[in-house]
Amino acid sequence: MSPEPTPLPPPPDLYGRGHDDRFMRLLDRVTRFYLPISTRKDRYGHRTVAPTPALLPVVVAARTVEAEGVVSLELRSPVGTPLPAWQPGAHLDVDLPSGLRRQYSLCGDPADRNGYRIAVRRIDTGGGGSLEVHQDLSVGTGLTVSHPRNAFPFAADPAVLLIAGGIGITPLLPMAREAARRGLDWRLVHTGRSDATMPFAAELAALDPDAARVVRRPDDEHGGPADAAELLGHAPTPGAAVYMCGPAPMLDAVRAGLDGSPGRGLHFERFTAAPITGGRPFTLRLRRSGTTLAVPADRSALDVLRDQDPATPYSCRQGFCGVCRRTVTAGTVEHRDRRLSDQERAEGQMLVCVSRAPEGECLELDG
Ligand code: FES
Repeated sequence: MSPEPTPLPPPPDLYGRGHDDRFMRLLDRVTRFYLPISTRKDRYGHRTVAPTPALLPVVVAARTVEAEGVVSLELRSPVGTPLPAWQPGAHLDVDLPSGLRRQYSLCGDPADRNGYRIAVRRIDTGGGGSLEVHQDLSVGTGLTVSHPRNAFPFAADPAVLLIAGGIGITPLLPMAREAARRGLDWRLVHTGRSDATMPFAAELAALDPDAARVVRRPDDEHGGPADAAELLGHAPTPGAAVYMCGPAPMLDAVRAGLDGSPGRGLHFERFTAAPITGGRPFTLRLRRSGTTLAVPADRSALDVLRDQDPATPYSCRQGFCGVCRRTVTAGTVEHRDRRLSDQERAEGQMLVCVSRAPEGECLELDG
């Protein structure tokens, strides 16, 4: 066995003294430890922080019955660290233990980084996600969720009308809180089948101590659902921006009621992706892999792409956020979105959550 090499003595310092130079030692420490922390790059300029993970582990920290058929869950980090920030209107993708993935609006307080709150109405005839939340998730259940995404941002216009149908109150409650915090001229009208099924009455009342801004309108106390004129009649000013979330008939009625009122900014979120109307089957070809995917008449290109790659990005599924944008390198697109400009369409952009192709067409996607 060869003897251990004798360590070399430290080089003399800048002044020829026989120990390592204190300035160089300090410089070494700064580049080795402090620079990476402050710049997130190592001394060679490489990134030291891994990319933000797509999913966050959380645990159900509280479960509360908020109304008949509605529970809220408080989700926290299992190790107690603060969760990523969010803004009113944001939602989470929640991966349920069964493997189902569902989107739920955040309805807590964005200022509270300790937890995310979601609220879920039980729908017995749905796809099973709400039933699983109601029946199987209890305090201590571990889940994974996406980082918050916002396809329904609140612009804090000076005058605002918030219209919520049933569980559609979830994205609007943080908006009401934000409007109150900013001193905006805001009103909120919350409709529902009956008072017992409408959650968050106490929280809304706390935001409106003078009972001048919040209207709760149970259908069974008013002889049926409100029409567009009644809902829009709650606006604080004629030109108020309108934010609404609720069932499709209510949204369609309010949209129709707003036609011809150009001064009103309209922002809305549906409970689900809009149904596909007039869809015809077509084909996608992925240019890099050469994979060919059939898109049936009753499914979106996004659905088919997510079957093949569950990490395919999307958010609103309604053609307005732009998250699902793809580039088409061949084929004719039938654009159905409300976002892309003529130029973006001419450049081959396509929002695959809503846009389609004529029957039998093959769209080649770059990627
Ligand atoms: S997911 Fe939002 S535009 Fe397609």
